[in-house]
Amino acid sequence: MDRRSPIALFMALCASQLGVLAAGHSKVNPRIITAPQGAKEYVFPRSEKYPVFYHKENSSAIYIGGEGKLYYYDFATYENYTEDFPVKNEGQCMTSGSLEDNKNYLTLVEKYGDGMLVCGTGACAPTCWNLTQRKESTSWDGRGIAPFTPDSNTLVVVDGHDIYSTIKKSQQNGKIPRFRRVRGGGELYTSDTVMQNPQFVKATTLRHEEPHQDKIYYFFREDNPDKSPEAPRNISRVAQLCKEDKGGTSSLSASKWTTFLKASLICVDPVTKGNFNWLQDVFFVPASDWRRSKVYGLFTNTWGSSAVCVYSFGDIDNVFRTSKLKGYNGPNPEIKPGQCVSSGQHTPSETFKIADSHPEVEDRVEPLSPTKSPLFHNKHRYQKIGVHEVSVGDGRRYNVLYLATDKGSVHKIVELLDGVQNIMELQVFPKKDPIQSMILDHKRAMLYVGSTNKVVEIPMDMCGVYRNNCHSCLLARDPYCGWFNGTCQSVYLNREVRQNLNLDPWRGTCQKGDIKEDDYQNITVVPFSRYYLNCPIESHYATYNWYHNNSLIKTCNTTHPQQDCFHFIQNVSHVHYGHYVCISEEDGFKQALVKERLVNQLRFMSQKGQATMTFGSWLQLLLMVLLVELFH
Ligand SMILES: *[C@@H]1O[C@H](CO)[C@@H](O)[C@H](O)[C@H]1NC(C)=O
Ligand SMILES: *[C@@H]1O[C@H](CO)[C@@H](O)[C@H](O)[C@H]1NC(C)=O
Ligand SMILES: *[C@@H]1O[C@H](CO)[C@@H](O)[C@H](O)[C@H]1NC(C)=O
Ligand SMILES: *[C@@H]1O[C@H](CO)[C@@H](O)[C@H](O)[C@H]1NC(C)=O
Ligand SMILES: *[C@@H]1O[C@H](CO)[C@@H](O)[C@H](O)[C@H]1NC(C)=O
Ligand SMILES: *[C@@H]1O[C@H](CO)[C@@H](O)[C@H](O)[C@H]1NC(C)=O
Ligand SMILES: *[C@@H]1O[C@H](CO)[C@@H](O)[C@H](O)[C@H]1NC(C)=O
Ligand SMILES: *[C@@H]1O[C@H](CO)[C@@H](O)[C@H](O)[C@H]1NC(C)=O
Ligand SMILES: *[C@@H]1O[C@H](CO)[C@@H](O)[C@H](O)[C@H]1NC(C)=O
Repeated sequence: MDRRSPIALFMALCASQLGVLAAGHSKVNPRIITAPQGAKEYVFPRSEKYPVFYHKENSSAIYIGGEGKLYYYDFATYENYTEDFPVKNEGQCMTSGSLEDNKNYLTLVEKYGDGMLVCGTGACAPTCWNLTQRKESTSWDGRGIAPFTPDSNTLVVVDGHDIYSTIKKSQQNGKIPRFRRVRGGGELYTSDTVMQNPQFVKATTLRHEEPHQDKIYYFFREDNPDKSPEAPRNISRVAQLCKEDKGGTSSLSASKWTTFLKASLICVDPVTKGNFNWLQDVFFVPASDWRRSKVYGLFTNTWGSSAVCVYSFGDIDNVFRTSKLKGYNGPNPEIKPGQCVSSGQHTPSETFKIADSHPEVEDRVEPLSPTKSPLFHNKHRYQKIGVHEVSVGDGRRYNVLYLATDKGSVHKIVELLDGVQNIMELQVFPKKDPIQSMILDHKRAMLYVGSTNKVVEIPMDMCGVYRNNCHSCLLARDPYCGWFNGTCQSVYLNREVRQNLNLDPWRGTCQKGDIKEDDYQNITVVPFSRYYLNCPIESHYATYNWYHNNSLIKTCNTTHPQQDCFHFIQNVSHVHYGHYVCISEEDGFKQALVKERLVNQLRFMSQKGQATMTFGSWLQLLLMVLLVELFH
């Protein structure tokens, strides 16, 4: 419904009849992007049920491991090839049955030494190949590095020549999952009593000042030992191990890690006391000082909401170093449980015995100070997290979070000084195909998102979505984009761009010359008339503001949801002309909904001069004079 004053409405109608009002409201909604500009895709030669992905930082290529095949594709040169990795000697699946398993599913594609490591199930006979310059080595026994059949509860960490994994080495035995060292040093595994039904999430190694202090951290969920009805069934954990662990001194402990400790990860909203206990994914953000390296943990809860909690490795290390062991009240031995010993030495058996029977520390790992609360939480059920740091023109650095939803889309969320802001939803797979993998290239600022049949390469700096509209460009608060010389540009192309990422009032940023007159709907309003500016309320969670010539003139809180956000001008005078913008804000996401430019048609016309007067404008002038006479 149009709530403009009758005279203005009539004028607008007349004007549009005469072709004066050409464009309607040009609504720019950069929030949901379905066909990302600059995105490229690679469709696999055939669909793959269990694809694995590998991308080397600062390259433009991707490797995809499929069933018996390795696909290579370079997004820059379109170079592509497929390598075959067939099953050798019919495999060994005879006893276990399923025809489905009787294939070589590639499960690992990684950089290894100077070349690549490719491993697969080998039809129940795990097998690996070294790959150098497209040349495969002879195959070697991959037990412990690749599973016997596709399995989701596996982690493999390749760190130089060392390989750690959670994969069992024998098909029949080993029902209890273990974390193993399978290459580099002697083989080691975790005691079967230290984890209860673990579901592994991710692992990393971390260099400390001294090589013998280097650690491995892995993140997992396990059954909560607290079985009371109000306790959550699963609990999220971080475990630590020393990289140079040499195992125990007795024959029973010789192949066991002696430096294992685990701690709970806490992610609780302090306001609602809502507990996000289900660790879904983590992303590691390294820093030059390992203590400041961070872990971004993505958690979900029973109701399908998600939260992101951020931890520092300094805090994690502190918990393992200083906390009491749960249930242990005896004296601490000289070498404390979890402590790394000097190179070449074994953990004393006394220390190992205490740690092995009390593997959990009492203190819990809390999110970063000072708030110790989630970075944010919302109602989406996110599956994966990635974090990219972007440094902008003013030298500040901002973290941008990429969160894969369960609907084939990715949310781009920025950590700003005044909180996080969801700036964009990228619908990567329009048919909502599940996102199998999301890889970030930090150097090239590219995102690689994979499904079971393709990979899409998306530039992180998609400034084109703001359509060279100053308000859209600046209001979005996208750290990759800014305003310069009449266009919305990437900070990677131009460091001088104007941005509005801080708490500056927005009016300081889009200046007169930046605003394209084409964006505005011209409304002719005669002096002394009444006029309504009407902004449609689309969401009851949003705030709506009307600005006139860049000054705030009206704020609407949606306490009366059935009403739109009006600004009423009782008696139009010369001060009321000019540019009006209605901006909505929801979850920190701002957008310009209505842009109107009120013009005094009489003056407008007379300024144009006689020579340009057409028949239409004469008719209009006639009408106008008539109307002014009628209503005045
Ligand atoms: C990334 O690769 C380009 C060439 O492709 C090279 O010039 C540049 O130095 C590399 N950057 C880093 C940080 O390695
Ligand atoms: C793969 O490379 C060939 C040339 O070797 C090219 O014709 C083809 O278009 C490429 N495939 C894709 C999907 O780009
Ligand atoms: C594979 O590469 C690793 C590391 O470079 C090496 O130790 C191993 O001998 C290689 N295996 C084969 C079969 O070439
Ligand atoms: C969560 O807890 C239930 C009950 O203890 C268990 O069956 C399930 O496997 C656990 N899931 C994970 C992912 O740890
Ligand atoms: C601004 O853009 C115009 C074209 O739109 C171009 O001619 C001019 O060189 C640009 N100025 C600068 C400083 O980049
Ligand atoms: C509104 O009028 C201005 C000034 O005459 C013009 O530049 C602009 O294109 C007009 N806007 C529309 C949407 O027609
Ligand atoms: C509207 O809401 C904002 C924040 O929610 C508040 O600061 C402001 O006072 C409210 N205004 C009115 C008119 O209720
Ligand atoms: C509108 O303002 C003008 C001048 O300020 C005044 O003469 C006129 O009476 C006002 N009209 C109404 C309807 O208030
Ligand atoms: C707003 O701008 C218009 C034209 O640019 C001018 O006529 C009007 O007086 C201005 N009003 C205010 C309140 O600044």
